Amino acid sequence: MGEATKIPEILTRSEAAAFIRVSEKTLGEMARTRRIPAQKVGREWRFLRSALEAWLVGKAVGEDDGRARPIAYDRPTTAEPAEQYALPIWGFRDTAFSENHDRTLHRWVPWIAGFSGSFVAGVLEKVRRGRRRLRVLDPFAGVGTTLIEALKHEDDAIGFEINPYAALACKAKARVAHYDVEMLATVLDRFEEYGEERLSLDMGAVSRPPKGFASRVPFFSPEVERQVLVCQDFIAQETTDWIRDLFQVAFGAVMVSFSNYSYEPSLGTRAGAGKPNVDDADVFSIVKRKLREMHADIVTFQRWMTRFRRTPQATVHPVSYFDHGPRIRRHSIDVLITSPPYLNNYHYIRNTRPHLFWLGMVQASSELKSIEHKSFGQFWQTVRSGPEVSLRPRLPHLVEQLEELRGRHAEKGAYGGSGWANYAATYFNDCQRFCTLTRTRMRPGGTVVVVIGNNILQGMEFRTDKLFAEIAEQEGFETVALHEVRKKRTGDSILNSSVRVGTVKRRTRLYETAVELRAP
Ligand SMILES: C[S@@+](CC[C@H](N)C(=O)[O-])C[C@H]1O[C@@H](n2cnc3c(N)ncnc32)[C@H](O)[C@@H]1O
Repeated sequence: MGEATKIPEILTRSEAAAFIRVSEKTLGEMARTRRIPAQKVGREWRFLRSALEAWLVGKAVGEDDGRARPIAYDRPTTAEPAEQYALPIWGFRDTAFSENHDRTLHRWVPWIAGFSGSFVAGVLEKVRRGRRRLRVLDPFAGVGTTLIEALKHEDDAIGFEINPYAALACKAKARVAHYDVEMLATVLDRFEEYGEERLSLDMGAVSRPPKGFASRVPFFSPEVERQVLVCQDFIAQETTDWIRDLFQVAFGAVMVSFSNYSYEPSLGTRAGAGKPNVDDADVFSIVKRKLREMHADIVTFQRWMTRFRRTPQATVHPVSYFDHGPRIRRHSIDVLITSPPYLNNYHYIRNTRPHLFWLGMVQASSELKSIEHKSFGQFWQTVRSGPEVSLRPRLPHLVEQLEELRGRHAEKGAYGGSGWANYAATYFNDCQRFCTLTRTRMRPGGTVVVVIGNNILQGMEFRTDKLFAEIAEQEGFETVALHEVRKKRTGDSILNSSVRVGTVKRRTRLYETAVELRAP
């Protein structure tokens, strides 16, 4: 019998630290920053010995240096080592998207409001209860975190995403099993040669900047724009649909990095954020690096899928869940995992305007309006000046809170409380619409997990998670639990401070909850 057999499979922090020969402090820090496989049980960390061994092997082959990396668009091309890819995960994990920046497929497109792959994986394993194949739904799919994790676990998935760029990214990932990697590699070589030749000849490009796109400062510098247009010429002449889609996704993923704009987290000028403009950049190299990363991930994922007896299917609908969700077969969904837009007015559409225009997905700003109106909760800008929106869910305490909000800063008109009350009422009405539709699509007893955070409007806290659960209960769902998956989001905010409304100073913590429901 070797030494290892005497070591238990589940290790405490001190045992795990001794096992991999680091200090407890270092190990605790690694666990907290998710650089090592670990699970929090109550207040204590627990480690799976086999997972630690696999992780050590992963490090030994040198595929990952294990260091957390800053968010960047032109990242190096290594994802997690293959051993780590398969780590068993169970339960409700941290939802922070930052983890996805190093993970196969998830890292293709940074999406501000995405959640982590391991969060989805944990939920899938928790609800599986021995079932071999689940039918998974994400009605607000973003860039496809839920769908990819479903495929990875051999489950079938359906997604809806109203933002055309996010939907394209989602679709491109969902079809990962079907790509011809040799063909893609050949096109990538051609792309490199094309760039070198065309840019050295300085012939100009056939592509033109999008006509309907306006920005406060030139989006690209003249030199960057010259390269961008040549790059677009290449994409336009590509005749294979899926390859063109991958190029579009890659271009969209990196385009802000060589523009005069940046995400802070909303899109704004670099100058406004105190950063220098980007006068020049090697556009072809940046796009090519992203595509090589995507190519490597396709290879990894396809290799992973060879263990499946049948290829799981993921379908992405680039339309509103409210409009097209009713087409899902009734009572056919085993588990829904999603994160809808929060009550924070994060403007997904405005923040992806450059993508939508430069990739030819919209031609005029008026087209954005119809997406805005169909978005979950709409936006403050969309509803602030309209007629008073009344709340549909029967929640007297929320009616009261909305009335108080409506009364705040009356002197500011639609920019004061009344505009924000319209927005909040629209938001909670959409929570109800979501529950009404979803209950008819879920298998009786099926699991719904909605990740949502509390929010502050005009100095008033809205406990959106609790309100959402109350609305769901009115629609027949049972609340299983509210899991606080992130204790702190973007820092505390001052509530009712003298600066904003009154004289009382109170700090409010922004958190994120996974609302777990059981379908009737
Ligand atoms: C919080 S994000 C979801 C992110 C996702 N969990 C991920 O990891 O990428 C919410 C998404 O809902 C989408 N959305 C908003 N209203 C929608 C609707 N009515 N139908 C479908 N998608 C919608 C937004 O465009 C946005 O991408």
